[in-house]
Amino acid sequence: MTASFVVVANRLPVDRVTDESGEVSWRTSPGGLVTALEPVMRSHGGAWVGWHGAPDEEIDGFHHDGYDIVPVALSSQEHEEYYEGFSNATLWPLYHDTVAFPEFHREWWLAYQHVNRRFAEAAAAVADEGATVWVQDYQLQLVPRLLRELRPDLRIGFFLHIPFPPTELFSQLPWRTDIIEGLLGADLVGFQVAGGAQNFLRLVRNRTPHPVEQGRVRVSDSHSCVARAYPISIDTAGFAALAEEPETIAESEQLLADLGNPKRIFLGVDRLDYTKGLRQRIRAMGELFHEGKLDPTETVYLQVATPSRERVGEYMRLRDDIDLLVGRINSEMGSVGHPPIVYLHKGFPRRTMAAMYRIADVMLVTPLRDGMNLVAKEYVACHPGNGGALVLSEFAGAARELRQAYSVNPYDLDGMKGVFMRALNDPYRERSKRMRALKKQVSTHTIDRWADNFLGDLASV
Ligand code: ADP
Ligand code: F6P
Repeated sequence: MTASFVVVANRLPVDRVTDESGEVSWRTSPGGLVTALEPVMRSHGGAWVGWHGAPDEEIDGFHHDGYDIVPVALSSQEHEEYYEGFSNATLWPLYHDTVAFPEFHREWWLAYQHVNRRFAEAAAAVADEGATVWVQDYQLQLVPRLLRELRPDLRIGFFLHIPFPPTELFSQLPWRTDIIEGLLGADLVGFQVAGGAQNFLRLVRNRTPHPVEQGRVRVSDSHSCVARAYPISIDTAGFAALAEEPETIAESEQLLADLGNPKRIFLGVDRLDYTKGLRQRIRAMGELFHEGKLDPTETVYLQVATPSRERVGEYMRLRDDIDLLVGRINSEMGSVGHPPIVYLHKGFPRRTMAAMYRIADVMLVTPLRDGMNLVAKEYVACHPGNGGALVLSEFAGAARELRQAYSVNPYDLDGMKGVFMRALNDPYRERSKRMRALKKQVSTHTIDRWADNFLGDLASV
């Protein structure tokens, strides 16, 4: 199979899972990248090149939802060194303002180079002559250059879903120039916010000989690379419609009853990741219950967290910390049938997420650093009427667009507690004014618009 439009991402939209009895099934992969790109692929068709989530398994390609799936295999050693190691214990913390310590290991870097080459070769093999290839995210930053070497006929785009760090932090990376040159293989490199593109261009000026003029880098006589911001979004109409379906409404009513019909519901929805500010958020909520500002008999804080990168040390520590924190608060503040925090460490179907968004009076999105954060946009799209309230960290990319959210600094616990209470207690007039503006923003800045903007620019640069 070959295609004129190819997406290359570390993850495929579906993960292959084998249960204890050996039965194989497929489930939606975790994370915002898949939420965002799935509708794009459904409408564009083409091929999605990526890993199927199971180490040491070679599988054949197949057709799915109107496009082709092209699996790239990873051995368990590559999974450990390229995915858990260099991608998620070196680049992930480094790009998120070093909120955890990045580890630098030469063997991880070797694996990263090796696996990036495999993805580039897989993309080169499926792309038609002159095709558009769109490479995604920090796991594959060497692919644009490798692919250009293999297939100079292609039009190559790259989009970074996570923040691009300030130059002082990026410069810690022993392989910084290789990464910059890797990205410069693309015709267009997209970032979530303008600051990311600026950081990248500053690095190009400081660390490479290539001239830069108005966001365009002249890499060679025959090749230039443009860097620009394209804030990503969601299928707003799709989420809003899902939230209004009778099955979703029924599920939300059931959920409310299962929670004991509390008067007020706070909600958190995250991958279990240390960048999401969960420790701080749970501590702030715990203090509000302790101080009597929130009554555990009538208020519930529902927190769902998808398991993520479970063998990486920082993630194991986070999981233990959250279990401890939640357990302590519930054992001290709860009563029979009334735990103030309902914490579920699992992933749910999209309909269940929409049902949760429907019933949440206050949505808590408080990352320490986040490229965009699609959960914030999903809540705005799904919550019915204008009575809900979105609390949003100033360190999420989404804060640049969702300016009418209740803004918080997640490092400031007292400040957060004040804003949580304000979001809950502000008069309807104030909350609805904010929510109307948020809904307008999210319904006009959709994933289709994001893809059209990026691909339109890629076709013309
Ligand atoms: P990230 O890409 O870092 O995970 P985003 O907020 O951009 O963060 O995207 C997270 C995506 O994962 C959203 O589409 C959200 O609905 C989904 N998600 C988060 N937690 C869960 C969960 N427990 N069950 C199902 N989906 C979840
Ligand atoms: O954009 C954030 C992101 O890291 C994606 O690249 C990734 O697919 C998703 O979150 C989930 O993480 P993982 O693929 O490591 O489970």
